[in-house]
Formats: sequence, structure tokens, C-alpha cells
Amino acid sequence: MAIQVKGNVHWVGVVDWALTHFHGHELSTHRGSSYNSYLILDEKKVLVDAVWTPFTEQLIRNISEVIDPAELDYIVANHAEVDHSGALAEVIRHAPNAKVVVSQKGMDSFPGNYHGDWDFQPVKTGDSISIGQDDLVFVEAPMLHWPDSMFTYLTGHNILMPNDAFGQHYASAGRFNDEVDQQELFEEAFKYYVNILTPFSNLVLRKIDELLALNLPVDIIAPSHGVIWRDNPLQIVEKYQQWAAQKPEPRAVILYDTMWHATEQMAAAIGEGLAEKDVDYKVLHMALTDRNDALVEIFKARTVAVGSPTVNNGFLSALAPIFEEIKGLKMKNKLGATFGSYGWSGGAPRILQQRLADAGVDIIREPLECKWQPTAEDLEACRQFGRDLAAATLQE
Ligand code: FEO
Repeated sequence: MAIQVKGNVHWVGVVDWALTHFHGHELSTHRGSSYNSYLILDEKKVLVDAVWTPFTEQLIRNISEVIDPAELDYIVANHAEVDHSGALAEVIRHAPNAKVVVSQKGMDSFPGNYHGDWDFQPVKTGDSISIGQDDLVFVEAPMLHWPDSMFTYLTGHNILMPNDAFGQHYASAGRFNDEVDQQELFEEAFKYYVNILTPFSNLVLRKIDELLALNLPVDIIAPSHGVIWRDNPLQIVEKYQQWAAQKPEPRAVILYDTMWHATEQMAAAIGEGLAEKDVDYKVLHMALTDRNDALVEIFKARTVAVGSPTVNNGFLSALAPIFEEIKGLKMKNKLGATFGSYGWSGGAPRILQQRLADAGVDIIREPLECKWQPTAEDLEACRQFGRDLAAATLQE
């Protein structure tokens, strides 16, 4: 169904309520997603971004509710990832006269992915296209989050269409930010930032500064996923500035895996040490916890404790992806320490410590090990570990 965004601008995208994972199986999407496509009816007819391939027919139907797709003069393709470009080949088949407007880097990614004989018009930052009453203005946004990513701004209606930036994997009945549950919206916007944009935080800050310096009036921010920001649209820009600064909260997270609950008891006692010092924390059993949700907790926390029993001279494998993620996402300003139980031989906490340090986390204390099931003395050592973690969490 096509929905009016403002004036002659319509949303013609798709809400994907059933999506549970994105980027293959890399990213959990507990609340589905949407693929937002925008139709602008000026003297020229413009489609901004398409949808994921399985929803191609629905996109064509939505466009056809408003105009004959053959009337399209331009298709702006801000980014080549398939969730926005999968339907393009079919749209172009219906719109044989449309020019396909892409960023400079898009001249690599679109032909490389689709091998189509499309009528490309590459643009760069500052370029504009007059479409009648209004203009489209383009701002390249490399690494937000791909090298080919681009923002498109519509003058007159003052709508910024930043593709993936400011989006959320959030399926909802309402299309606008003032029509949905605010807690759900910001949980999803934050999870999206943490899991997709964290590595590019410095670029996020620079791009926002560049956009603000242009002094363009922004009435609406219309991303390519989730709801459209029309009520106080700059609130999500301010959130991005806050998140991109990577200033953790004074809280801790304890990540562990366990076989016969010894390491689990250690995790609980570490939590008691944190609680004694009034430091808020979460305890996450990583064999049972969604990795992307755990990353949200890690992003928020100043300190990270990681625990595993020693198995096969190493640690339990459920913990392994966490180090790759902390490193890959380039998380900053983290302090950490490690712990774990053992039976015949130990060593896992020291290996975990090296992995944590390799991921960029500053180590605050020696690893803590406990043989077999923890004694009362062992549990007191764990509580002291928690107090040490609390002191690090609270230090300026
Ligand atoms: Fe929504 Fe980078 O694709």
C-alpha cells in the first residue's frame, strides 16, 4: 500500500514482519524490518531506493497504485546492498526510460552485482538534479555503512533520505516515529547502531557535522529501514552523536559459559561484588544469549568480565564470537577481566584475557581461577573480583 509522506512524496516500500535475521544470519531482528522506497511526483517522477528481491511484486504494485512505473524518469539507488536493490532489475524492466542515479562508488557495486545494461548517472557530493519544483541534492556517505552509501535530500519538502543511516530493523503498523511505541523504537534504533554502525563512529560524527554545516532545513528524515522520523527528526541525529562518542555508562556486563555450573556460580558471586558497590550489571550466559543483544549490553557497559571453564586446554566456544565482534566493531573505552573454573588443568581465563586484550579491552586485574566447584573462599575471591570491577567501572 502506498502511503503519503508529505505533499507529493509517497512511501511505496514493504514491511517485513517475518524477518528474524538479516545479513544472512549475522544480525537478529526480533521485531522484523521494513524496506522503505520513496516515490516523488514532480515534473519528473523519481523512485528513491527499492526493496529486497522477494518483495519485488509488492513494490511494483505499490508504485502502480500511484503512477504507471513506465513514467519513472529517475531511480535513485543510494546503496547496492540487496535489501534495497534486489527489486531494481524488475523496476527498470517496467521503467525503461529511467536513469539510475548512483554514487561514484555505486558505479562499482551496482554493475558488479547486477551485470545489467542500466542507464547509470553517477553523482558526487553537492551534485543536484532539478525534478521540477524541487531539486534532489546528493551527499556521498562512504562507510555509512558501505563505500557506495549516499544520502539524497529533497528540497522544498526538506526530506533527507539517508538510506541505512538512522534506520531500525523494526516492523510496525505506523510508518512514522510518532505512531509507534517509543521504547521499542529506540531499542531497535540503538541495536541497529551498535551492530552496524559502531565501527564507523568517527565517520558518523564527521558526516553529521558536514550535514549540519550545510544548514539544510530538515523536516523529515526518511531512512530505508523502519519508521520515518517526522516528529522532531533531529532527535535521532542527536542520538547518533551520543552513541558515536562511545562513552560507556557506569555499568558492567558479565559474559560466561558453563558446563557444571561452577563458572556460573563464580559469575553470580562477581555480580554480588558489583552490587555491594551499587554498580548495575547484567549476567549473560553466552550459550543461551543472542549475540547481537549481548553486543548492545557490551556497548553500554564500561567493564566486561568474561568467564569459562577450561576445556581442551581452551575455553568454551560459545564465547569465541564475542572477541571477534568487539574487535570488528572497534568498540572503545572498555575495561575488562576474566575468570573461570577448572578440574584437572586450568588456563582458560588467561587465554580469555589475551583475547580480550587483542580485542582492544584494557585489562584491570589478574584472571581468577577456581578448582572444581567453588568453596566459600573462592566465592569471596569472586566477590572481591566484582568489587575490583566496580572500582574500575566507577573510575573517571
Ligand atoms: Fe539496508 Fe546496507 O542495507
